Amino acid sequence: MNKITSLITSTIIIILLMIIAVFMLKNNKKDNLTYEKNITIKVGENIPNINDYIDDSNATELTFNDIKSDNNRVFYSGIYKGYFKYNDKKYSVKLTVIDEEKPTITGVKDISIYKGTNIDLFENIVISDNSKDELSKKVEGTYNINKVGVYSLKYVIIDKSSNKTEANFKLNVVDKKNLNTNTSTLSSKGYKIEKKNGIYYVNGILIANKTYSLPSNYNPGVLLNDFMTNFNKMQNDAKKSNINLRIISGFRSYQTQQSLYNNYAARDGKNAADRYSARAGHSEHQTGLAADINSLEQTFEYTSEGKWLNNNCYKYGFIIRYPKGKESITGYMFEPWHIRYVGVDIATKLYNNGNWLSLEEYLGITSKY
Ligand code: DAL
Ligand code: ZN
Repeated sequence: MNKITSLITSTIIIILLMIIAVFMLKNNKKDNLTYEKNITIKVGENIPNINDYIDDSNATELTFNDIKSDNNRVFYSGIYKGYFKYNDKKYSVKLTVIDEEKPTITGVKDISIYKGTNIDLFENIVISDNSKDELSKKVEGTYNINKVGVYSLKYVIIDKSSNKTEANFKLNVVDKKNLNTNTSTLSSKGYKIEKKNGIYYVNGILIANKTYSLPSNYNPGVLLNDFMTNFNKMQNDAKKSNINLRIISGFRSYQTQQSLYNNYAARDGKNAADRYSARAGHSEHQTGLAADINSLEQTFEYTSEGKWLNNNCYKYGFIIRYPKGKESITGYMFEPWHIRYVGVDIATKLYNNGNWLSLEEYLGITSKY
């Protein structure tokens, strides 16, 4: 009997001890008498609250020196010293704010410039990061804006916590017009027609049409910076009105144009193909200054994107290159999608309240094979 009683007693004692142990573990925070704290949070998280650590209203709020916060959130990584008071004693706290996210980089594209043109390689680049720490931004690789060539370069963005983002791109330095090989005549409107290095300029505007062709080795490789910079601006502004513009065909080499045209001619016959497709060397797509936007259907004219493009592209220096009803002048059927960069001055002159004048009319030049 005695034995049973003592067994029960000791079992009860063990159970009680276990309950006490569990209770103590649960309240460990409260009973940790040192109260020194090492707290780690991520960039962008809230400054910790004392109640997350001590379940007692006698503890004062955590106070950190030199902490910069936005709506109580910390966007700068680093170590912050702080303290709180509990039962009249001061306890120190170390807050470590860590950043494990890489910066992001958008807008990376190959860039083409004429030889000798200064270029800000970050011009169309948007960099962002979860932290507000200063970023190191650089371009790795060597290039020379005074030497024709294709340079393989890399954007390298590193945040304070060594999170690194890289993006490759090419800088294409294109030959500059050689002023010594000029020939020049005048257009019917009195504008100077010049040929430099095999390329025709009328009133300083590079021309590629049925009359004026480009050399087969003229090859910027990508849309030129003049085009891209202004297209990006236009695309962003259009987006604000819910208009989505996208390039569906940009630069096309002599060779690409040759096979395109040959395919069309084989399919529809030369006469038909000549009304909508340029022969090799005659396409504006080879200039790096023209592109097709959104659609290759003439009904694009009636879409909200088509209307927006028709009425706004001139503000960014673009023209609708083959306007409606001008086939006998431009040599091509109406293309509401094909834009060409000429600069705001000329584009504004050609806009004509949406009833576009063609480059041929304005400059007084022909477009005939
Ligand atoms: N569709 C235009 C005329 C071109 O082929 O360049
Ligand atoms: Zn086109």
